[in-house]
Amino acid sequence: MIKNISVIEGDGIGPEVMKQTIKVLNSITIKYGHDFHYKNVLAGSKAIEKLGDPMPKETIDNCLKSDAVLFGSIGDPKYDHNPIGNRPEDGLLKLRKRMNLYCNIRPIVVFPKLEKSPIKKEFLHEVNFIIYRELTGGIYFGKKGRCKNGEKAYDYCVYSKEEIERIGEMAFKAAVSRKKKVTLVDKANVLETSRLWREVIKKISMDYPDVDLDFLYVDNAAMQIIMNPKKFDIILTDNMFGDILSDESSILTSSLGLLPSASIGYDKSMFEPIHGSYPKAKGKNIANPLGCILSGSMMLEYFGMHKEKNILEKAVKNSIEKKICTPDIIDSKLSSTTEEVGDYIKKYIMNQ
Ligand code: IPM
Ligand code: MN
Repeated sequence: MIKNISVIEGDGIGPEVMKQTIKVLNSITIKYGHDFHYKNVLAGSKAIEKLGDPMPKETIDNCLKSDAVLFGSIGDPKYDHNPIGNRPEDGLLKLRKRMNLYCNIRPIVVFPKLEKSPIKKEFLHEVNFIIYRELTGGIYFGKKGRCKNGEKAYDYCVYSKEEIERIGEMAFKAAVSRKKKVTLVDKANVLETSRLWREVIKKISMDYPDVDLDFLYVDNAAMQIIMNPKKFDIILTDNMFGDILSDESSILTSSLGLLPSASIGYDKSMFEPIHGSYPKAKGKNIANPLGCILSGSMMLEYFGMHKEKNILEKAVKNSIEKKICTPDIIDSKLSSTTEEVGDYIKKYIMNQ
């Protein structure tokens, strides 16, 4: 298969983890006779520096034309005080919106051999749930600004029935082939948007009689994810709650650096690790490339390349079993570098 892929390395550790991801994907394409054409495009702080815009038009055009986008990470403290719309993070939000990537899928899977989680082992056995995070609406995209000479600020949270329906359908469809359970996480005791989410999702659930639907307030969900993570299958939630709960859930898996995600729209998609740009680790060869590599694996699945995805995931599992890991998930005296992890996974795939 021939695929055109836009690559946004982004800021901080983005270029380092992306380099390993491309290396690993190249071993897959060689092995299975695919042809991936990568096009590097600018976003975030590098785009601000060169073009004065965190998401230049050329980048958006390229991403819209390609079969998929691979994204590293974004954010640079140097630009924290830039005006609204001109911070590196704004570039990512603009791209998500322009590509209509309304459904962000974040699998939370615990690898058995990892023991860096501060949570007791007995709570972690067989944890496997997926967060379906709405990605193009809510408080992230509502009107925002300042008034009263800058001494008052506002961020509106708005959701429409259609925005809730389209991700709701995706979540129920996913539950059908899993443990058949959807948990809607909201704050319906306080927020009107949450009450609309409940109404719409209850209606959708009627078309899925085999799927159990339950509801949790987000404060309670934050506690249950730590106390009883095994009870979850699909967590369906809005943009803001999904952002917060996914970082929290990463604690179960040992490291945020391990977690991939797929952002899906009507006919566009982007694959991005959950972690940020981790500026302190930039250039040190210590960043965990697995979140980005596993995002590449979600891209293979999206392309319908199931054998390819399986072998990549087997290689990742093997690297963890053999303790070829970065210091976030293993004792730092025994750890490998970002490059070494990528090399090991590549070699494993080539030797299959
Ligand atoms: C994420 C990130 C982004 C978000 C930031 C970088 C804008 O935290 O993908 O989880 O908040 O969505
Ligand atoms: Mn986040």
